[in-house]
Amino acid sequence: MTQHPKIYVAGHRGMVGSAIVRQLLAQGHPAERIVTRTHAELDLTNQAVVNAFFAEEKPDQVYLAAAKVGGIHANNTYPAEFIYQNLMMQANVINAAFRNGVQKLLFLGSSCIYPKLAPQPMREDALLTGPLEPTNEPYAVAKIAGIKLCESYNRQYGQSHGVDYRSVMPTNLYGPGDNYHPENSHVIPALIRRFHEAKVSQAPSVTIWGTGTPRREFLYVDDMAGASVHVMNLDKAIYDQHTQPMLSHINVGYGEDVTIREVAQAISKTVGYQGEITFDTTKPDGTPRKLMDTSRLNALGWKAQMGLEAGLHAAYQDFLINYASKN
Ligand SMILES: NC(=O)c1ccc[n+]([C@@H]2O[C@H](COP(=O)([O-])OP(=O)(O)OC[C@H]3O[C@@H](n4cnc5c(N)ncnc54)[C@H](OP(=O)(O)O)[C@@H]3O)[C@@H](O)[C@H]2O)c1
Repeated sequence: MTQHPKIYVAGHRGMVGSAIVRQLLAQGHPAERIVTRTHAELDLTNQAVVNAFFAEEKPDQVYLAAAKVGGIHANNTYPAEFIYQNLMMQANVINAAFRNGVQKLLFLGSSCIYPKLAPQPMREDALLTGPLEPTNEPYAVAKIAGIKLCESYNRQYGQSHGVDYRSVMPTNLYGPGDNYHPENSHVIPALIRRFHEAKVSQAPSVTIWGTGTPRREFLYVDDMAGASVHVMNLDKAIYDQHTQPMLSHINVGYGEDVTIREVAQAISKTVGYQGEITFDTTKPDGTPRKLMDTSRLNALGWKAQMGLEAGLHAAYQDFLINYASKN
């Protein structure tokens, strides 16, 4: 009988890391073969403790879903923390993984790696073709360095040590474990919270910034976890056929976008809010469109499964159980 690999999921209490653990368990991976450490138990910015952890645990595979993440405000206020902590976490984990014989690692990045004016939908080869969005440039530069760390270890140690480190770049995610903080959350969790509060207080209307016409893409986090496990387990020959040594990252998206108006209407319906939705057109709209090109991932045999309506329903149930009842 083949032994299940020992898998370290870094960031297992985060939104994505917890979904990866759920996915592994759902696919029959035994819980005792999944290694986790909280931030308090293992600070991934500390090289010495990361080296000691890998030397002791000797995992076979690593999902690198730990990161310092935040919205525009946090990125603008703490740029040094965003670039430093993310660079350190990645460099420490990837190098310690290599030094301790890990052959398979998956690094999680983000769609913010692409230039601000990248053609839409954004293809993997748009990377490093133009200036980044200034607000999260330090974070994006760290994520790009993460991709390049994986590629460089593959190029130097692929043949000699069997190193096979891959990267996935998710679009906007939502679902269980999301952050519903009033000032620092993404579109879907922010709107779930606002429509829920408007329903509870019987507010006559909810006003949304901008015209409602910008288009955005949203992916349910358990789909993201499914894609992560799929990419990690892809046969190397197939993976190599669809990637290049210095252009190896893979976009993970839903494949379609919706307008902000459509997503607001869908959330209002999910929450059961009876009032009106209005748009404050004096407020800025932001980029007109942000959509990932997912043809590379589709060609590798994966497609998103959770539609927006069902995904919002599941996200709202999680909000009610894990957030609204405790705040
Ligand atoms: N959420 C999205 O919409 C989205 C979209 C695209 C890409 N992603 C990517 O997906 C990855 C995970 O994001 P997420 O949304 O799951 O973030 P998250 O919910 O904030 O989780 C991040 C995890 O990393 C841990 N962590 C942070 N600093 C650490 C440190 N120094 N040592 C050890 N652990 C540390 C956090 O622990 P503590 O909370 O205890 O600090 C947390 O468990 C990130 O790379 C992000 O760029 C997310």
